[in-house]
Amino acid sequence: MSMSKSQEYISLEDQYGAHNYHPLPVVLSKGEGVFVWDVEGNRYFDFLSAYSAVNQGHCHPKIIQALHNQSQRITLTSRAFHNDQLGPFEKYITELLGFDRVLPMNTGVEGGETAIKLARKWGYTVKGIPANQAKIVFASGNFWGRTIAAISSSQDPDSYGDFGPFVPGFEVVPYNDLEALDKALQDGHVAAFMVEPIQGEAGVIVPNEDYVAGVRALCSKYNVLWIADEVQTGLGRTGKMLCCDHAGVKPDILILGKALGGGVFPVSAVLTHHEVMNVLHPGQHGSTFGGNPLACAVAMAALKVLVDENLAENAEKLGKVFRSRLQMINVSIVSGVRGKGLLNAIDIVPFGNGKTAYDVCLALKANGLLAKQTHTHTIRFAPPLTITREQIETAADIIAHTIDAVTR
Ligand SMILES: Cc1ncc(COP(=O)(O)O)c(C=O)c1O
Repeated sequence: MSMSKSQEYISLEDQYGAHNYHPLPVVLSKGEGVFVWDVEGNRYFDFLSAYSAVNQGHCHPKIIQALHNQSQRITLTSRAFHNDQLGPFEKYITELLGFDRVLPMNTGVEGGETAIKLARKWGYTVKGIPANQAKIVFASGNFWGRTIAAISSSQDPDSYGDFGPFVPGFEVVPYNDLEALDKALQDGHVAAFMVEPIQGEAGVIVPNEDYVAGVRALCSKYNVLWIADEVQTGLGRTGKMLCCDHAGVKPDILILGKALGGGVFPVSAVLTHHEVMNVLHPGQHGSTFGGNPLACAVAMAALKVLVDENLAENAEKLGKVFRSRLQMINVSIVSGVRGKGLLNAIDIVPFGNGKTAYDVCLALKANGLLAKQTHTHTIRFAPPLTITREQIETAADIIAHTIDAVTR
């Protein structure tokens, strides 16, 4: 029997690629707005949005136009020379988000690494922590990437197992626990606390109403930098430009990534105030591609689309519609519904002889909607923020009848 096109592509990855992912068996070759198409021509709602990197929708014409225009002029200069895209991008993003300075990198995890380097150096040169004794505190359940530093703060054995030894000077306190944080920050060697305002990879864990403002207050009280990892929650995803905006507070250091590149190009950025950014001097940090003109042009267009199309407001409004539809699914295998804006998740109780959230994702795929389980029992639903009311109603119908059907 001959293989389908999809099977052919999957078997190539299987034979020649590293087996470091377990994707759903679908091979995509086209994307537009909230939809993606597989190589057989089947259309799906994209309810993952590349882990929130495609907030502006697939192949947004304005972002693709910016990519195209800039790619015909100049794409890479390195930071050995100036380029005419970096300065305007830096001005735009700092003014838009209310910070003094920005340091552009490429991936989210490099943003995290950058924030930690800034915090350690600030700890020694401004706070007065003795040499090489700075501590960075993280929250349990954190996920900020796959580098050695990122897995050094992880408590997930899949992330850190067999990859030691780890980076020293990292501590973990329970997430959503201000008392534990208060205790940890009393240690004068702590330079920073790094936390996601909603934990994405942990399963869309939304903390108590007072948590984020409480983190701000404690970090100020103990002269510790608060690093907000908004790589996944930022840029409209949760119904505000930044998730921290829900609490009306600002971090000392903000990390952005994913949607900053509009789903087109890897762009991350670390934003902070003069006192922190000014600890860095030439030669102390950087990246060959960070701040390249193509990335800056794409990121500028990606931000303008978010602003011009009011995508945060759309996420806020349609998130409420979507969650209320999910809450109406009266099937015993759904044990929880939570989220903010268009970052949502449901928990699936194992059913039918060991079936899990993965099997629900397979059934959703068969019905024209792509979503991915996280940690076996949770399914995240995060469509592009350009989704319309009619589209989200249709998607909610697909989810409801699929869950109903798999349990029969
Ligand atoms: C909160 C958060 N921080 C950082 C990262 C790492 O981003 P990247 O995969 O671009 O390195 C992720 C990726 O999922 C994330 O969710």
